Amino acid sequence: MKTIEVCLTPDLIHQHDLKGKIVVVVDVFRATSCIVTGLANEVEAIKPVGEVDEVKALGKEGYLMAGERGGIKIPEFDMGNSPFEYQADQVKGKKIAISTTNGSQAIIKSEGADEIIIGAFLNLESVAEYVLQSKSNVLIHCAGWKGTPNLEDTLFAGALIDECAEEMKTVGDSALVAHQVYIANHENLFGIAKQSSHAERLSGFGIEEDLEFCMTESEYQVVPRLVAGELIV
Ligand code: MLT
Repeated sequence: MKTIEVCLTPDLIHQHDLKGKIVVVVDVFRATSCIVTGLANEVEAIKPVGEVDEVKALGKEGYLMAGERGGIKIPEFDMGNSPFEYQADQVKGKKIAISTTNGSQAIIKSEGADEIIIGAFLNLESVAEYVLQSKSNVLIHCAGWKGTPNLEDTLFAGALIDECAEEMKTVGDSALVAHQVYIANHENLFGIAKQSSHAERLSGFGIEEDLEFCMTESEYQVVPRLVAGELIV
């Protein structure tokens, strides 16, 4: 039986062997929700990078510059980190370079995996189908917040485990925790996610619509994959 495990924060990723695995990176609020939204809305490719200066250098090569620090758009960038910006006509057919506080860092730290794909509630069902049809074991890499686990990514990990439970065996207590938290709250996911620390942080910027949208299940049928440093579908 294939296995499914969870890393609750990038600071613990060194404890997992990535070789031979599909890593599903998730940052529900909001980086991976933005990536899924963009690629479902005809963005050509999204390049995750660690540093703001790397985005600026890519901007000179024609990429749209996107990202935030602490949830706030970087002033000279074209876009921040709201999924609604990734639906706009101006992004269709374009390449975007993105750097965020946690999400893009988690993608970069997944290097070494056989395959890196992007998950969010917005593409939950498609990610589940993708990992179920693959032969590889699965690691869900939660972006968390600055090295600490967070509720919304843990809920996503539990939801994906739930979708795969009949065909995959969970490994480790982080996977058990995620699954149990999901089972206990699956009828009120937005209600519980609203209590998370990052929801509170973001609600200070008046972007409750972002939070509600990011908790929408299976709105899109895309599975972004990292190929030669760029996310594409
Ligand atoms: C991150 O990468 O830390 C988040 O996406 C932050 C945010 O909500 O903008």
